[in-house]
Amino acid sequence: MMKEIRVGLIGFGTVGKGLAATLLQQKDRLRQRVGAAVTLKRVADIHVKSLPEEYCGVTLSQDAGDILTDPEIDIVVELIGGIEPAKSFILAAIAGGKHVVSANKALFANHGREIFAAAVKNNVEIGFEASVGGGIPVIKSLKEGLVANRIEAISGILNGTANYILTQMTDHGSLFAEVLKDAQAKGFAEADPTYDIEGIDTAHKLAILMSIAYGLHVQIGDITTEGISTIEPIDIDFAREFGYRIKLLAISRNHGDHVEARVHPTMVPEDHMLANINGAFNAIEFTGDTVGDILLYGQGAGMMPTGSAVAADVVDIGRNILSGSVNRVPALSFLPEFIGEPRITPMSSLTCPYYFRVTALDKPGVLSRISGIFGQHNISIKSVIQKSRHADEPVHIVLMSHQASEADVIKALAEIDGLEICTAPTMKIRILVDEQD
Ligand code: HSE
Repeated sequence: MMKEIRVGLIGFGTVGKGLAATLLQQKDRLRQRVGAAVTLKRVADIHVKSLPEEYCGVTLSQDAGDILTDPEIDIVVELIGGIEPAKSFILAAIAGGKHVVSANKALFANHGREIFAAAVKNNVEIGFEASVGGGIPVIKSLKEGLVANRIEAISGILNGTANYILTQMTDHGSLFAEVLKDAQAKGFAEADPTYDIEGIDTAHKLAILMSIAYGLHVQIGDITTEGISTIEPIDIDFAREFGYRIKLLAISRNHGDHVEARVHPTMVPEDHMLANINGAFNAIEFTGDTVGDILLYGQGAGMMPTGSAVAADVVDIGRNILSGSVNRVPALSFLPEFIGEPRITPMSSLTCPYYFRVTALDKPGVLSRISGIFGQHNISIKSVIQKSRHADEPVHIVLMSHQASEADVIKALAEIDGLEICTAPTMKIRILVDEQD
């Protein structure tokens, strides 16, 4: 009898359709690579009343329970997103001895520990390649290709929507709100774009990458997160003038007994590879102790790219089922008994160069008062620009610092923003420094 791997799909949205199309259109290619048919048997989606006619052999229902209780299903693919009911569906699938594939970054960043433990207990696999970087095989690279490395650093552009907005602002000088509206109209940004623009989606993805890279149970709450909604075209212009691009970066550095974990707008030197990742694309840079720097680049979202990553997990699990080697590769690369608790570097001890844009009345002595406060807090200024004076209007004074500590910066800005001559909160943007610099 021909061998078969049977898949049940919960959620027939954009990515679900991408997976279904891949399993159907690449049927022969997958069979040749797996040694068995990989068949979509069931789809469940409360909003879908019928499937396109090419899926005539697939059973549709509005109840995920029909998949979870079907003894014929080997792999349950969860693509509805969000915490509940996705979490309950996944735990029920695991308890029922089914393998699981999911693209649910919020779920893994919040409840990964519980889900991975349940999977180990029930001897089933969890595939989550599509949760980070869409179609880019970033998780497999980390778990397998880079397995011999101590990961020293992770830097990445992990959210296509935020990168699209910043690219449009950079290329066309547009306002953040205008580009966001346009992105929503074009279907790039969600109706509620909060997770994308406030860095939360990026932080979910960084938590997942750090967990695998370092063998730590990193959760969303461990990551300091700032978004891009306060970035103004003027900051982008000043950045360009100083030779930088502004990017929303996920950054982590491995200091051995503690690890950095942060997401924030960052000034990236214009000749750095991450400065040149534009539009909705994603890129992830790892530094390994033996391999050096690696950059993975590609489409971080979308029906077919993300469908490609989900299909890859299905194939991996299918191969392991057929060869009797389930959980050959542990979910987080490290065996569960070697996964520890993270010690996160406090943000206050971060040291990097900074960009400051102070908004102040243009009066004699203003610059010296501001630079005096920076000096009193051990912050050394590298260069200063003041632009376009209009009588009686506040001006922007931009100061670029040498390496400064975040704790000193917070104290200095509290003083500066308290001055009667300062008319708006000072904008601060951290500047990326490569480890080797
Ligand atoms: N909202 C995400 C993005 C989709 O814009 O990158 C992929 O996770």
